[in-house]
Amino acid sequence: GTGDKVELPPVPLLKTNVSAYVALTQESVNIADVYEAQGFDFTGPRKYDQATGYRSKSMLVVPMMNLEGEVIGVLQLLNAKNPQTGEVIAFADDFVALTRSMASQAAVSITNAKLIADMEQLFEAFVSVITTAIDERSPYTAGHIRRVAELGALMCEVINKTKEGRFADVHFDNEKVKEMLMAGWLHDVGKITTPVHIVDKSTKLETIFDRIDILRHRFELIDACARGEMLDKKLFALNNGGGDLAAMDSEYEAFRKKHWDDFEFITRSNKGGEFMDDALIARIKEIGAHTYRYNGADHHYLTENEVNNLCIRKGTLLDDERKMIQDHVVLTKRMLEKIPFTKKLANIPFYAGTHHETLDGKGYPSGLKGDEIPLEGRILALVDIYEALTASDRPYKKGMPVEKAFAILKSEAEHGKLDKDLLDLFIKANVHDIYRAMHPELTEGHKAVEGAERNPGSTTALA
Ligand SMILES: [Fe+2]
Ligand SMILES: [Fe+2]
Repeated sequence: GTGDKVELPPVPLLKTNVSAYVALTQESVNIADVYEAQGFDFTGPRKYDQATGYRSKSMLVVPMMNLEGEVIGVLQLLNAKNPQTGEVIAFADDFVALTRSMASQAAVSITNAKLIADMEQLFEAFVSVITTAIDERSPYTAGHIRRVAELGALMCEVINKTKEGRFADVHFDNEKVKEMLMAGWLHDVGKITTPVHIVDKSTKLETIFDRIDILRHRFELIDACARGEMLDKKLFALNNGGGDLAAMDSEYEAFRKKHWDDFEFITRSNKGGEFMDDALIARIKEIGAHTYRYNGADHHYLTENEVNNLCIRKGTLLDDERKMIQDHVVLTKRMLEKIPFTKKLANIPFYAGTHHETLDGKGYPSGLKGDEIPLEGRILALVDIYEALTASDRPYKKGMPVEKAFAILKSEAEHGKLDKDLLDLFIKANVHDIYRAMHPELTEGHKAVEGAERNPGSTTALA
């Protein structure tokens, strides 16, 4: 047929209707002339004949049985013809068995096609469950995967419409677009193992919560200890005939002022937006090396781990935490390679596994360069970074205006990271506008996390 949807009313399952009769009884019905036959209601065919001028005469109706012996439909043949004269004749009795077996073969094919469609649907539902789980683990990245998948597929359609330049002859047919969409859905599947507190790390001292509060309490304790010491000294002086009490007061006040200055400096340094130069790092280390006496023992102001975190020069991530985040793509590849994809989807692990490769060979995990990176992987890399830059729901930044995101993407392209032609097409074809029109809920700067700072240089790692 034409592949168009068939708009016919359903047949009621009454035995007076010949197709329903065959479906219900699994018998074949062979009628020489429906206008003369008894026992069935042929008002339907008659009406049809009246409307079309056709004359229904001989009819053979056989059940379509699948391998389980279930009827999944009926096959209705009309008006057998004498091959010589063209005259309408009855269906020969020996033709019935042949038709039945052909109908069953058709039934098996239909069942197979349905099974394949069911399997595809099952797989898609499974992918959607997993990716929703990953996206929802962190409120800050919610929706990233979906947006990357949709933007990637959109980019394929834009390429299809391109009639000049490098992409003039590139065509993604429906199946390739679907494969690309799936690769987008699965590109960050490896993030399922990345600890969520690292993905969400919005300050340097954050573990599963921001340790700045612990530090505040510690600094209060140190202050209280210092005040206690000062009061002890005063009491001792008073009991022993006096001393310079005012000097003791001003010594404590001087300590107190510096102490809370230091804490204020730590609070500032805890933010990812602060760039830490050598002098600032030296100050953190110096504060950390101070000791206070509590419960009969000396303690450092800051633990080694706190010092290490506060000394992060850019952003909020330690090197090993950044590495852990980057490792998601290794895991994406490893996980996807375990799935026995059908031939149509066989490239998904390759496409998804190359979304953090860069053309200059400095990407990860494999350091592929130039032509070693497929077009599909380059598209994912582009839309992935675009999405990460402009999404407003990350802990360390507000949504970035599109123009600014383009400037960063252009610089990435000029530095030989991203495919420049693809980026030009992305900008020229207004992919971002088309996408925003599809999703009116997306506005620049929405859902910005209050007080959040950008984590420079981390966006590509986290995407
Ligand atoms: Fe990624
Ligand atoms: Fe991503």
